[in-house]
Amino acid sequence: MSQTPTHALPSYLNPEDLGPWGNYLQQVDRVTPYLGSLSRWVETLKRPKRSLIVDVPIELDNGTIAHFEGYRVQHNVSRGPGKGGVRFHQDVTLSEVMALAAWMSVKNAAVNLPYGGAKGGIRVDPRKLSASELERMTRRYTSEIGVIIGPSKDIPAPDVNTNAQTMAWMMDTYSMNEGATATGVVTGKPIALGGSLGRVEATGRGVFVVACEAARDRNIDVAGARVVVQGFGNVGGTAARLFHEAGAKVIAAQDHTGTVHNPAGLDVHKLLSHVSQTGGVGGFSGGQALDKAEFWTLETEFLIPAALESQITVDNAAKVRAKIVVEGANGPTTPEADDILAENGVYVVPDVLANAGGVTVSYFEWVQDFSSFFWSEEEINQRLERLMREAYASVAQVSREHKVTLRTAAFIVACTRILQARQVRGLYP
Ligand SMILES: NC(=O)c1ccc[n+]([C@@H]2O[C@H](COP(=O)([O-])OP(=O)(O)OC[C@H]3O[C@@H](n4cnc5c(N)ncnc54)[C@H](O)[C@@H]3O)[C@@H](O)[C@H]2O)c1
Repeated sequence: MSQTPTHALPSYLNPEDLGPWGNYLQQVDRVTPYLGSLSRWVETLKRPKRSLIVDVPIELDNGTIAHFEGYRVQHNVSRGPGKGGVRFHQDVTLSEVMALAAWMSVKNAAVNLPYGGAKGGIRVDPRKLSASELERMTRRYTSEIGVIIGPSKDIPAPDVNTNAQTMAWMMDTYSMNEGATATGVVTGKPIALGGSLGRVEATGRGVFVVACEAARDRNIDVAGARVVVQGFGNVGGTAARLFHEAGAKVIAAQDHTGTVHNPAGLDVHKLLSHVSQTGGVGGFSGGQALDKAEFWTLETEFLIPAALESQITVDNAAKVRAKIVVEGANGPTTPEADDILAENGVYVVPDVLANAGGVTVSYFEWVQDFSSFFWSEEEINQRLERLMREAYASVAQVSREHKVTLRTAAFIVACTRILQARQVRGLYP
């Protein structure tokens, strides 16, 4: 007797409040009509392959025992091992980790990296822990998820509030449990442990590369173009510097400390040293302070959100006067705002494509670890640029073919690749 599946929602989610997983499901629904006969497999994308919830107990410095909720979700591994970051944040939920894992499946497939998608997290405010408590928590979490991660199974990396040191602890813990040094179990490691040159700047560099490709498609000259950047950290700061070096004018920058504006162009090198000395762009003497909301309305060729999610919303989307938006951050544009931007002719290079430079160099790190043969920074940047340009070209081609936005096109490219792999592998048993 055959049974037809009717509902894609697993029983462990609240249908009234799906959180970020609900947004992801909407994106999959938008793309389904373009999947042809592969749509037969689309339910695969609507269920994570494996979701692990772990208890992470540690002894605090004051002698008491604290328990933290940890997750590792492998959304899809049809095209290769899981790949995705680990986030330490007090608001981490299963729904969020599921969505982030799914977006990693899409990102890796959109750029054609041989990975599936995964993500992990611990529901904790890491600023409330001492360095040794943080180390104990990271190590216990790694041990708990050790049953499903590994260099050829699932490879974590840094995300919000985790960094190269976190990866060093994870690599060491996994290696101690395995009884052999396994550098390839995580990426984003310190160089001394098999990390890759170019990794730190990779995401910002990728943002700049796809921005240049988009500019060519829209007949915009990067030299002399205006650029507005939200977030002057790793991604935004690097992208701004590369634009500046290419002759563009970064006319405004916003971060958690304020907004600075200079229609003649900010001195990006001076602004970067101001940020590293003071912690933010606020108070920079090379520009004028600007109202937070006005920032989004500036007339510019490029707008680069590179800070937080949900920054371009129904409240400000209609006022955006940028020709091209390049999403450095994950999820900076809400689905409703996305529609408004599209109606107004704003060309949006979506996060799954624009910020894929980071995971691309993570892939290079993993390849280098496997062969124990390390490349020069120049080689890494060249390979990164080539891969990002190719990814942009194939997504732009699909966008023209189907007359859809680059976001929908990126999902078409990615979901097609994932489901083709699913189809030819077949169902086990
Ligand atoms: N670093 C990577 O490799 C990478 C890869 C893919 C995606 N991303 C995404 O890019 C974004 C930025 O990451 P990052 O690595 O540059 O982080 P970061 O911590 O280096 O920088 C974050 C920036 O955001 C700013 N910011 C924080 N709160 C803000 C607020 N309320 N208003 C305006 N600005 C605010 C900070 O001041 C800082 O300039 C995140 O969405 C991240 O998920 C990063």
